[in-house]
Amino acid sequence: MKQILMIEVSPRGEDSASRSVADTLAARLTRLYPSARLIRRDLAAERLPQLDEITLRAISTQDPAEAERLKAAADQSDRLTDELLDSDLLVIATPMWNFGIPSALKAWIDLVVRSGRTFRYADGAVVGLAKDKKAILVLASGGVFTEDPWRSWDFVEPYLRQILGFIGIVDVQTVRAEGMNLPWLAAEVVPKANKAVEALAL
Ligand SMILES: Cc1cc2nc3c(=O)[nH]c(=O)nc-3n(C[C@H](O)[C@H](O)[C@H](O)COP(=O)(O)O)c2cc1C
Repeated sequence: MKQILMIEVSPRGEDSASRSVADTLAARLTRLYPSARLIRRDLAAERLPQLDEITLRAISTQDPAEAERLKAAADQSDRLTDELLDSDLLVIATPMWNFGIPSALKAWIDLVVRSGRTFRYADGAVVGLAKDKKAILVLASGGVFTEDPWRSWDFVEPYLRQILGFIGIVDVQTVRAEGMNLPWLAAEVVPKANKAVEALAL
């Protein structure tokens, strides 16, 4: 394990369940892989832009001359994509917001899911280029989505698994910190998730 990339999304600082569980995971990973480089990319501290016309053109043009001319506009996407491709393990620690992922995380995804870098099409099929990586999702939510009746409202885990699979990351484990807004569960949510972190196959 050479590099671990941890994407943290919640803006709730010390109150954040996903960050608290990510801390436990970071500590375990550091114990297991002391020589690995651990990058903690904090999307609440570092606001990523939404794709605008010039950035979109810069990261999608097939014309080498245009790519060279628009190099600066592709810089942030290039750096984030390199960081992902150079990592052996990706951790995404995120809240559920309005049944999906926060737009800050979507902005990161839009910058790293790139034709020719992290996926390509071959004979009409998609080939993921982010090979030989594992991922761990740390998902915090106010309600409980691993059982009915709310299971079908979860657009976080199915989406993240789908988009990671699209770029070639299919070995994905999930740790849930769910029930944060349910008074009868809330106190136990983070301790339970921390236990699940200790049980992960790493
Ligand atoms: C803007 C916003 C939207 C939210 N939407 C949902 C939701 O759709 N479903 C849910 O179960 N909890 C929802 N919550 C509750 C959060 O998922 C919960 O507080 C979780 O602990 C947030 O993760 P964090 O503690 O890492 O910040 C929402 C919270 C906020 C602030």
